[in-house]
Amino acid sequence: MQPDASNTVWHKTSLNISDRHALNCHRSCVLWFTGLSGAGKSTLATAVERKLYAQRIRSYVLDGDNIRQGLNKNLGFAPEDRTENIRRIGEVSKLLSDAGLFVLVACISPYKADRDSVRSMFREGEYIEIYVKCSIEECERRDPKGLYKKARSGEISNFTGLTSPYESPINPDLIMDTEKRSLAAMVDTIIQYLEERELLCT
Ligand code: ADX
Repeated sequence: MQPDASNTVWHKTSLNISDRHALNCHRSCVLWFTGLSGAGKSTLATAVERKLYAQRIRSYVLDGDNIRQGLNKNLGFAPEDRTENIRRIGEVSKLLSDAGLFVLVACISPYKADRDSVRSMFREGEYIEIYVKCSIEECERRDPKGLYKKARSGEISNFTGLTSPYESPINPDLIMDTEKRSLAAMVDTIIQYLEERELLCT
């Protein structure tokens, strides 16, 4: 028999998300950074986190590489594993955002359907998809972890952009072109976006 949740009953907790927003004096949401390996997702997420911290905003970064060393260490890079990776990261994002945090997710998340299913878990405006855009040529030139080299030599299979697909977002909330813009400018754009949507206050 497949495991399922049909015999569980949702237990309503005594505090809700509004209570947590009131305590924190800011709202919560998920900033979902998607893009090729080496595009700059983690660098950007980390820089935004620093800026949020300076503004006394509580946040947490969920980085694909890091999550794959713990919670998702039993997953590989076959399509169904990536889907499960994103589902779990989506669920954790939902919990952390419900706990009142700004959640910054940096993972390739190559499939549109998986990203859309995470989006559907959130209220309108609380899932912000940021396409970290960078050509495969430039990612391969940067090759910060030496993985493109390994993929080219056949040491790594199913490598995104080379032997595994990346479906670019069609209608992301923000596009950050890391080949064209400075890190500081991109961070400013993201912070401004959050300010305009009144997420940094209650
Ligand atoms: S995702 O596709 O399932 O969203 P995730 O972001 O969690 O990927 O992990 C990607 C990271 O794993 C890359 O940044 C890279 O360091 C490493 N990696 C190892 N093997 C692969 C592979 N075959 N394809 C892509 N990334 C890989």
